[in-house]
Order: sequence, then structure tokens, then C-alpha cells
Amino acid sequence: MKLKQLQTEHTEKEGSNVTLEGWVRNHRPQKTFGFLDLNDGTCFETVQVVYDQTLDNFDETRKIRNGSAVRIEGEVVLTPKRPQPFEIKAHEVEVVGAADADYPIQPKRHSREFLRQKAHLRPRTNLFTAVFRIRSLLTQAIHDFFQSRGFIHLASPIITANDAEGAGEMFRVTTLDPKAPPLDDSGAVDFSQDFFGRKTNLTVSGQLHAEAFAQAFRDVYTFGPTFRAEKSHTSTHVSEFWMVEPEMAFTDLQGNMDVCEDMVRHLIRQVLKHADSELEFLDRFVENGLLRRLERVASSEFVRITHTEAVDILEQSRQTFERPFEKDFASEHEKYLLSYFDAPVFVTDWPKDTKAFYMRLNDDNETVAAVDLLAPGGGEIVGGSQREERYTMLKKRMDEMGIDTEELDWYLQLRRFGTTPHSGFGLGFERMLMYVTGVSNIRDVIPFPRTPNNCEY
Ligand code: 4AD
Ligand code: MG
Repeated sequence: MKLKQLQTEHTEKEGSNVTLEGWVRNHRPQKTFGFLDLNDGTCFETVQVVYDQTLDNFDETRKIRNGSAVRIEGEVVLTPKRPQPFEIKAHEVEVVGAADADYPIQPKRHSREFLRQKAHLRPRTNLFTAVFRIRSLLTQAIHDFFQSRGFIHLASPIITANDAEGAGEMFRVTTLDPKAPPLDDSGAVDFSQDFFGRKTNLTVSGQLHAEAFAQAFRDVYTFGPTFRAEKSHTSTHVSEFWMVEPEMAFTDLQGNMDVCEDMVRHLIRQVLKHADSELEFLDRFVENGLLRRLERVASSEFVRITHTEAVDILEQSRQTFERPFEKDFASEHEKYLLSYFDAPVFVTDWPKDTKAFYMRLNDDNETVAAVDLLAPGGGEIVGGSQREERYTMLKKRMDEMGIDTEELDWYLQLRRFGTTPHSGFGLGFERMLMYVTGVSNIRDVIPFPRTPNNCEY
């Protein structure tokens, strides 16, 4: 049976025999008896299995190494005085798959760096059990949130010919021979002979495709992997990450923030509701006060300020910052604003040259209807905007910024065929996970992280 099920049924099962399968987290053999801490993957907790010399294979059992896969048959014994409410008194212990002596995950504190080198084994530690159980729960919570509000899910393409952010940080997708690519008359690589008959790359964002769907279904979202060939070596950047991108027709920036705020609170509430063991562990070993922080955010209003107001606050701070903050913010500025308000902060209306080509120009002609949501731990967890829905304005902006309007003709057409004021945002899924788990490095909330010079596994 599954340990999760036994957790809810252990009182009825007292004295009866059950069979459990799982992996040994910690084995403490004594002379005439021993303890196996078993985790079967179905819940965060382990169960203690007690065995003694009555086992047929007592000598073999005593030699079981941590990491081994085992099948246990035994009796459920209630232990109400101990933190774990029950244990298993083993009648049979079968080794399904022994772990070799060099199994690197031992019941002690390993450094996060060490565990990153063992990304295929780290899910078997308490920390990563907690993180990845929450990651799965949060995925479900995202779909629940949008589906319950009638949003239509679309799978935006992973291979695309477009650069949705216009920043050029793309991974090329090609089948051309790198040693001898076909060349055109001018000596440049002839991508018309490539697999798709043109240049293609991995998507940096599903937004533009979501916009097309929003002009048909009104409220839509996409949730999938995105890729950035950005040489950032920070604790909040990876080259492959997941993004949640809703897009809403007939919605302005304020409406956009309303949805975003409801979503973030919903996600936190779901984690608080369904992951108490995981959160308790994280609160103890990763971030003291995590639970209190999440509870507070789940019931508080987020702050909304303009970029101009944020700059004023930074100017008046009397703190010396290393970097300028007149335009874009670095993490030191984000941290200051977050501690100033002690709550998640929406910063809106950014100078237009700090932001992407598709954002709606404000009446001042200087700023765009952009929004970033800053949250403690994750920094910028959301970036979004009201989109430029006016054909002439969009075309002009794209020309100014050197965006290829031919390649994005389909996107411009959306402004000629029933355009609407519309808005959307992108939630960095891993940044959200950092925020709810307290884990401070993004590499530790994604199963197999990809960063510059690192794509093992
Ligand atoms: O601010 P960004 O670049 O916005 C967009 O991609 C828009 N197309 C979203 C939209 O409006 N539909 O990225 C959105 C979020 C960021 O706020 C951040 O949380 C996350 O994606 N993000 C990253 N997360 C991890 N590693 C990276 N390299 C990231 N780059 C962005
Ligand atoms: Mg951004």
C-alpha cells in the first residue's frame, strides 16, 4: 500500500499487516534489531520500520545500505507518544534493488552545491522532496486558478521563428551542418535550406501566440518551458525556465494586476492548505518565519506604485546604492523597496526604453503601461503589461526599436482585425517557487537546471 494512504488510515489498520515499498533513507542496525526509515515517495514523511532477529534474513537485512529499494511486510503499531504516529514491525524485508556502497546521499547535511552535482539523486533528500512536491502542487494550483475563472489554456509553440521579447537572447534550432552550412550569394548562412526553410529558435515567451488566442477566447493562458540564451550568472536566472502567461482581451493594466494579485494569493493559499509537512520542514531548515510570511501575504493587499514613485523612494532612502536606479532596478533596489513596504510591490509605468516593443505607450509619450511584481526572495517574479493595441503606434515602435515587422506581420495583423485593449503577464514559475519555499537559488527549485556552461543530464 502507499504510505500516504496509511497515514490517513493508520488507526483503523492498527495490528494488521501491510506491505510497503520504497527507499531506505536511513538505516540504524543494532546487534539484535534495527530501524529503517522508509520513504515511498507518496508523501513527505518517512515511516520507521523496526526489525529483529525473528526475520529469516536478519543478517542480510542488517547489511541494507541507505538508498536501497525495499519491500516490507509488517504490522502497523501505533506510537502516539512519538512525533510519528505509527511504525511498522517488520515480518519480512525484501531487498528489491540494493544501493552500492558509494551511494552519495547520506543522512547528513549535504551542501546545495554538492547536491546539484547529484541532480539525479537529490530528489531523495528531505529538502528536494519538499521542493518538488510543492512544485507539483503549484502546477495544479495554476491550472485550477485559471480554469475556474474560465480561461482557455493554449500550448504555445516551443519552436518558433519569432523573438517575442525582441532582445535577441535565443537558442537557434537548426539541422544544418555546423562545419559546412550552405551559404547564399553574399557568403552568409542560407537558412532557407534549413529544416523549416527559415531561421528558427526556441521560444523566449509564449505571449505573442497567447495574444492571438486572447483575440478569440478573451481570457487565455499558456504554461510551459521558455528558453533564454542570456549569460546571467545569478541566483535567479536559468536558461530554461517555466512561465505562466495569461492574456486577457478587454483588460487594462489595473485589471491585469487584479488577476495577478488574486493568482499569487491563490497559489500561496493552496500551498498553505496542502503542504503543511513540507512547509514546516522548510520553515525549520530553510527560512525561519516562512509560514508566518506566507500567511501574511495570503491575506494582505499588494502595494501598487509607479516607477516614478519608486525612484523617489530610492532617492530619499539616504542609502548608497552601487548601481544607478533612474531607469532599471538592480536587485539592491528591489530589496530596498521590498523592505520599505514589507509586502509584494507592483511597480508600473516604466520608461519606454527599459521595456519590450509590445507595451502600450502612455499619454506622456515617455512611459509604457508595464508592470513588474517584486516579491521578497524571488525579486521580480512577474513581468507584464497592457499591450499596444493601436496598429500605427505598434508599427512605429517596432520600427524605432529595429524589430522585424515582416517576420511579425501576423502579430501586427491582430491590430487590423478586431483589435482590443488587452493585457497579460508572465509569472516566472521558478521564481514563484523560490518565494513560497524560501529556497534562495533558482537552481534548487527546478529538477535539472540549465545555466551557461552547464547542461548535464
Ligand atoms: O519579464 P519577462 O521577460 O516578460 C516576458 O517574457 C513577457 N512576455 C511576459 C508576459 O507579459 N506574458 O519574463 C517574465 C518573468 C520574469 O518576471 C521572471 O519571473 C521570469 O519570467 N524570468 C526568468 N526566470 C528564470 N530565469 C530567467 N532567465 C528568467 N527570465 C525571466
Ligand atoms: Mg521582466
